[in-house]
Amino acid sequence: MTTLKQLAVESLTHMAEGGLQRLAVDDDARSILREWMLSARRGGDAPPPVQPAVAPDMSVEEKLEYLRSKAANWKPAKRLGTLRDSMVFAAGNPHARLMLVGEAPGYEEERQREPFVGPAGQLLTRILGAMGLQRSDVYISNVCKFRPYMGENQGTANRPPNPEELAACLPLIKAEIRAIQPACIVCLGSSAARGLLDTQQGVNALRGQWLECQGVPVRVTYHPSYLLRNDARSARRALWEDMLAVMQHLGMPISEKQQNYFR
Ligand code: URA
Repeated sequence: MTTLKQLAVESLTHMAEGGLQRLAVDDDARSILREWMLSARRGGDAPPPVQPAVAPDMSVEEKLEYLRSKAANWKPAKRLGTLRDSMVFAAGNPHARLMLVGEAPGYEEERQREPFVGPAGQLLTRILGAMGLQRSDVYISNVCKFRPYMGENQGTANRPPNPEELAACLPLIKAEIRAIQPACIVCLGSSAARGLLDTQQGVNALRGQWLECQGVPVRVTYHPSYLLRNDARSARRALWEDMLAVMQHLGMPISEKQQNYFR
């Protein structure tokens, strides 16, 4: 649940990244901010999440490089002790109009240090191809930057990140969104949607509509790994309809053949 305090910290960080250095506040706001500060000093309630603040005059590439270096040793995630050590950041085009956000790296992603390169990633690459896009046309990232830990004998097994793991990594993906400013985001699966949209709802309740994260339109669809488990034509068509909505939003040409895939 987003608290007022978290929202305030996120908005102030956003303004600071936009170049704001001073902010006039009225007496009420000043006394609330003062109370939060004193409460934190007294060891009161949990402090709001740390935000990686990039300088406003950096290029997008510089901002992402800065965020990548912050992420590698991201204390809120490391502190949990439930995520593996290797950090997997993002791949693709920093100037992309389309950003795809998944859950967390799996075995193959951790090995190659790149998101979506395992079996689900190969399917994602094929879906992009059907849209007329290559991986290098889009920006691909995850809400959680570390593969969730499952014990000494984890092998190739993966698990979804839990709510604490998602919350710890969330400031990083939100800062990536602010740096890239895509025309739209696709959340692949419920972990991405829960993180970016601050909701408990699942994919079935969220898909088929435009939602919003930090002012950017968001579409939620199935995670490609769901389609690997359930390759019913109806599931493939449902994901494809979400992608058609994205193509339309981006003003991409849609052929009759594309319109009819998986019908
Ligand atoms: N699943 C995800 O959600 N992300 C990856 O990077 C790989 C698989």
